[in-house]
Amino acid sequence: KVGDDGSRGAFIVLEGLDRSGKTSQCSKLLSYLEGLGHPTELWRFPDRSTSIGQMISAYLSNQSQLDDHTIHLLYSANRWEKSSLMETKLKSGTTLIVDRYSYSGVAFSSAKGLDFEWCKAPEIGLLAPDLVLYLDITPEKAAERGGYGGERYEKLEFQKKVAESYQALRDPSWKIIDGCQSMEEVQKLLQEIVLDHVIACKKGRALSHLW
Ligand code: TYD
Repeated sequence: KVGDDGSRGAFIVLEGLDRSGKTSQCSKLLSYLEGLGHPTELWRFPDRSTSIGQMISAYLSNQSQLDDHTIHLLYSANRWEKSSLMETKLKSGTTLIVDRYSYSGVAFSSAKGLDFEWCKAPEIGLLAPDLVLYLDITPEKAAERGGYGGERYEKLEFQKKVAESYQALRDPSWKIIDGCQSMEEVQKLLQEIVLDHVIACKKGRALSHLW
């Protein structure tokens, strides 16, 4: 069985604006990899199941007010509290498909005006993904897709700033996928790239840390 030979799983992150289609694509990737016999789990940040996650959730639905720095550190703490489990899973051969990670942390908080380097600092030392997939869609297009919901950040002007912050964070290793294509086209592209990485990690590529 895959994973029993000591090979590790791949750490794959999907990023993009709200309504970019990440969440649906993540679950399709999960079925795809499971179908091929690769042990895979779907994770997401914020992970609203923990007590820190519940504080974040209350903030996002406007049930609580928090200073921008404070919420930034909570998002980061939410990743830190999951990091050892994440490492254990990867080392035991499970591939993790993760909906948002540190890049969302920096993109959203710096879009509010917080210092870019300050935003990156609490993420230092977290596991680095093997692959970042960015679903590229304009904020206008995202807003057209059934409109933004009622959560705090789902407003066009703010999403434009988030898009700019993501631009500043991008590095050449990111795979940028045109998110305006059909769901099927996007999925086909993602499957190819992800499978390559799952195989590379099984062959023993080392895990690294941010940034
Ligand atoms: P998410 O749960 O992915 O959104 P949705 O409920 O639409 O599926 O994320 C909630 C919001 O939190 C999203 O607008 C992005 C933002 N966010 C941050 O600001 N910082 C972070 O570190 C993360 C992970 C998300």
